[in-house]
Amino acid sequence: MPQIFKPSVAGPGRVMDWGSSAAPAPARTASRTMSREGTQPSADGQGYANTPGLHEAAHVAGWRRVTEAVHAAGGRVFIQLMHAGRMSHPDNTPHRRQALAPSAVADRIGAARTGLRLSPGSVLGGVEEGPERADLYRHLAAQLAPLGLAYLHVVQGRDETLLREIRRLWPNVLIVNRSGRGRQSLSSDLEAGLADMVSVGRMALSNPDLPARIREDLPLNEPDPATFYGGGEAGYTDYPAFQPA
Ligand SMILES: Cc1cc2nc3c(=O)[nH]c(=O)nc-3n(C[C@H](O)[C@H](O)[C@H](O)COP(=O)(O)O)c2cc1C
Repeated sequence: MPQIFKPSVAGPGRVMDWGSSAAPAPARTASRTMSREGTQPSADGQGYANTPGLHEAAHVAGWRRVTEAVHAAGGRVFIQLMHAGRMSHPDNTPHRRQALAPSAVADRIGAARTGLRLSPGSVLGGVEEGPERADLYRHLAAQLAPLGLAYLHVVQGRDETLLREIRRLWPNVLIVNRSGRGRQSLSSDLEAGLADMVSVGRMALSNPDLPARIREDLPLNEPDPATFYGGGEAGYTDYPAFQPA
């Protein structure tokens, strides 16, 4: 999910920091479980420019500040360890080496604290998954099933049959993200038994008080795409909370 904290160091292995709006930030996170932005666990895992790292002491300290504040506000965080894999390019790594494929972490921190995000059918970055795509995801879901991971998080593409099959093959918590899903249909996958949780990206990014707005049926801020992936605070910490007229 999108970042809401300011990057303090441009370039490889960005360090997470609070930025100048430290005070309101923890309040923004209350009552949320968050999956935080793709973060490389080694320099060899970096696949895009300026993504945050988690492999040096400064990275760890930066992330600790973030997680402690989220916990203090009653929120929960999953960090998204990301090797950009098929999306990576040597020009985006600090040493110009080819990025490495993802590696398992569940045996270090425990399966119950590990989740996995998949994007079947995504064409982002010109990816083509080929004719065996559905078979591969079915195989993967079946192989993952016995591992006891905390969740599987699927960014749903067009293949509804595949989503239903993943649901059938996957015994633990299934989180479904549907790009652009409006608030009226937030619960449709839950009601259909297709998901145990749903996730939102842009709606959460642009509404610091999203749980209250949904609960109380208040209007939502519109996200501003011009500030996406900006690397600064604009568009991450400055959307207003709802103000009654
Ligand atoms: C600014 C921005 C940053 C994002 N960063 C990540 C990321 O680090 N990791 C990830 O898996 N998805 C990331 N996404 C994708 C979202 O998690 C989500 O799948 C996508 O925005 C579609 O859902 P939505 O319509 O609820 O926003 C990002 C999206 C946006 C807009």
